[in-house]
Amino acid sequence: RRIVVLISGSGSNLQALLDAVSADTVHGEVVSVISNKGDAYGLERAAKAGVPTTVVDHRQFETRTDFDQALMAEIDHHAPDLVVLAGFMRILTVEFVRHYQGRMLNIHPSLLPKYQGLNTHQRALEAGDSAHGATVHFVTEELDGGPNIIQTVVPVLPGDDPKRLADRVQLQEHLIYPQAVRWFCESRLVMRDERAYLDDAEL
Ligand code: GRF
Repeated sequence: RRIVVLISGSGSNLQALLDAVSADTVHGEVVSVISNKGDAYGLERAAKAGVPTTVVDHRQFETRTDFDQALMAEIDHHAPDLVVLAGFMRILTVEFVRHYQGRMLNIHPSLLPKYQGLNTHQRALEAGDSAHGATVHFVTEELDGGPNIIQTVVPVLPGDDPKRLADRVQLQEHLIYPQAVRWFCESRLVMRDERAYLDDAEL
């Protein structure tokens, strides 16, 4: 399976996926890494793994539609079976999302449907939650709203600040995201009518 990964930053989830591919636990190939930021550290991770990279800088486009169209063209050039959003910090247009319906995944640092959007760790702390986590989901038109595939739950501990909590969540992200990609590459994971199924059982 051909995988294109979209990033904006550090790319630690990208790294986890690259490691899973090279360990052959994910039967796929990361054929391209695309960033909307030229200084994203994830670009270096990709280069080290021998994966071609491209920067599509959103600031060079007047509208979100123009940017998304350029991004789509770049992605489709690599003919992916799967598009993986890994810390890609842009909101996508409906046209873009529809185009990759059923073949685009995202990871969000909260127990969705709780805390869609930004600053999830801080919001979980402020709410006094005793548990927090991350969710891998299919991308649909609702932001952070697609059907869940896999969640990880971590405890909120005394003395946590957003950074400590985020670090604890991220360690788990690096396990669940490759797992979801693995299922997809084995054709075990599909989306139908905005519902996610693993081995034909609804998740
Ligand atoms: C992760 O916490 C992910 O849940 C969120 O953005 C962060 C990306 O981190 N969507 P990294 O770039 O993979 O290190």
